[in-house]
Amino acid sequence: MKTALVTGATRGLGRALALDLAARGYRVFGTGLHPDRLADLGQHVDAIRSDITSAEANDALAELVGPVDLVVHNAGVLGPRVSLDRYPRSEFERVMSANATGPFDLTARLQLNPGAVLIFLSSGVGNQTRADWGAYCVSKHALEAIAGIYAKELTDQLVYVVDPGGMRTEMRAAAYPDEDPMTLVTPEDNLAVFQHLLQTRPPTDTRYKAKDFR
Ligand SMILES: NC(=O)c1ccc[n+]([C@@H]2O[C@H](COP(=O)([O-])OP(=O)(O)OC[C@H]3O[C@@H](n4cnc5c(N)ncnc54)[C@H](OP(=O)(O)O)[C@@H]3O)[C@@H](O)[C@H]2O)c1
Repeated sequence: MKTALVTGATRGLGRALALDLAARGYRVFGTGLHPDRLADLGQHVDAIRSDITSAEANDALAELVGPVDLVVHNAGVLGPRVSLDRYPRSEFERVMSANATGPFDLTARLQLNPGAVLIFLSSGVGNQTRADWGAYCVSKHALEAIAGIYAKELTDQLVYVVDPGGMRTEMRAAAYPDEDPMTLVTPEDNLAVFQHLLQTRPPTDTRYKAKDFR
């Protein structure tokens, strides 16, 4: 049985993907922060409270999970939607820690099986800048660079970046409070890109958009 680790599996895309992978026969470890949401993941996902921003937690998580065949770096935070000149430094550091430093750190601590697949969840602002996206934009650029470097350094593993696009999740609602969520695709609508990557194992170090696989 293959082992998968999905960070940020308590809701949104991470939850949909963790449940889908479990249904496809993976042993799935799913992380998050809120205990009630972790409990709600059900019996088919090993739910673990683990903070991606904590080196100690990442160490313990790597130890607990053991050798892995699939890592999905999905956990993320949005941070304030304000201009850089008004962006609080503490918030900048919090967002960078969750969205970039954490995935770098956890990857380095994990025992990756030969042939393992690593998927980093980026964003439309991961390879272009946009006003008022602050540390989220910076952190996703950094995440794509981290993925790119791992792709070149990890010769026995495959590394991909996925941009899921706008989805009906809490993060999107926080970013666009005036938007009607019913106009957006659900996380479940976005799962085909992951199956494509896992089944066809295309060349590494490439950026994929979920909308191209719906
Ligand atoms: N939604 C969109 O439209 C959209 C668009 C482009 C890219 N993305 C990216 O796609 C990914 C999933 O987005 P989403 O909308 O599904 O997000 P979401 O609904 O906000 O869920 C975020 C997940 O990350 C977890 N998380 C947050 N901070 C964490 C931490 N410090 N340690 C561990 N887990 C933590 C949350 O756990 P708790 O519930 O326990 O807090 C939750 O499971 C993110 O990387 C996001 O940047 C999303």
